[in-house]
Amino acid sequence: MGEPMIRLEDVVKRFSNSRTLAVDHLSLEIQEGETAVLVGPSGCGKTTTMKMINRLEEPTSGKIFVDGSDVMSQDPVQLRRGIGYVIQTIGLMPHRTIAQNIATVPQLLGWEDSRIKDRVAELVEMFELRDELLTRYPGELSGGQRQRVGVARALAADPPVMLMDEPFGAVDPIVRARLQDQFLDIQDRLKKTIVFVTHDIDEAIKMADRIAILNVGGTLEQYDTPKEILRKPANGFVEEFIGSERGLKRLALIKVNEIRVEEGPVVSPEDTVQRALTVMEEFGTSWASVVDGGELLGWVDAGTMHGMTTAGEATPQRFSAYVTAENSLREALDSLITSETQVAAVVWEGQRYRGILNLDQISREILG
Ligand SMILES: Nc1ncnc2c1ncn2[C@@H]1O[C@H](COP(=O)(O)OP(=O)(O)OP(=O)(O)O)[C@@H](O)[C@H]1O
Ligand SMILES: [Mg+2]
Repeated sequence: MGEPMIRLEDVVKRFSNSRTLAVDHLSLEIQEGETAVLVGPSGCGKTTTMKMINRLEEPTSGKIFVDGSDVMSQDPVQLRRGIGYVIQTIGLMPHRTIAQNIATVPQLLGWEDSRIKDRVAELVEMFELRDELLTRYPGELSGGQRQRVGVARALAADPPVMLMDEPFGAVDPIVRARLQDQFLDIQDRLKKTIVFVTHDIDEAIKMADRIAILNVGGTLEQYDTPKEILRKPANGFVEEFIGSERGLKRLALIKVNEIRVEEGPVVSPEDTVQRALTVMEEFGTSWASVVDGGELLGWVDAGTMHGMTTAGEATPQRFSAYVTAENSLREALDSLITSETQVAAVVWEGQRYRGILNLDQISREILG
């Protein structure tokens, strides 16, 4: 990995009127194109950390680098224009229209009117806002629409770095999930370097490449990928913060194609019954998958094969649980526990047989 896009080096923030530290010797590196999510209880220094990155606050000690240069050596106004910022309360200007709000930074940068107009239109489409909203004022929008405008405004001048302070905080869970999905889609294309603040651990797990878990007093408890944090919380605070269902949350992050799937007992329709019974015996099952030229036909039971000569004479039955490469292990687990067989067939691209998945394999991943 090269030079990180954002680097905090032993940063301390003490407000003059406070005895406790807001941020306590914080070191963090955020790679270009990654989303780092700061989570932690109220007052743990998330907003303060963010504001030090674009110099709305200054560190008491320590250094912060953005794209290789020390923020304290840069002109704060210039610096801020190069960093998109979604503030905690959205903060749209109430007496300016939505179009004017979105155009704030491009206007400050002196873009030509036609370029601004095109950019606003592009963002309106990206965030699925309707054109008719552009001439309205923030007070005439729904909460979810306002939040999208806040994010669109921060992206307007196409800055490489985005700071997003609880950008989807003030909406109901369904709208929030939609905004999250939409933003993940957009980020997939734009590959911004993002610092994202939330106090919702599930939002953090969903949005983050890396999560920084902060504690009251501004101390960093753990900084790692969601999978690693769920696999191995650094301490009791982290464990409590990530809450119940740690194993299930972790399974939701792992795709079936990331694990080794066992082939299981497999026969082809031409195999003799004798051969089929041998295969079942090897695997300690009384059934086998029937696969013809790579295609899964179903499964056959030893008990139905008496008097037959080949496995193909038995009618294959459908597996009651199917999973594909794209399913998460959590989805696989759900289909397993609702099927009678406790075995799911894993298929790629339609019916191409890949193997079988059972509870043992999944629980190994939970512990892994
Ligand atoms: N301007 C200020 N002057 C004095 N203390 C401040 C100031 N701004 C923040 N603080 C204090 O610094 C600490 C961290 O505040 P900060 O806003 O960074 O928390 P936060 O993690 O963003 O919390 P929340 O989840 O509630 O938004 C708090 O104890 C807060 O009271
Ligand atoms: Mg805050």
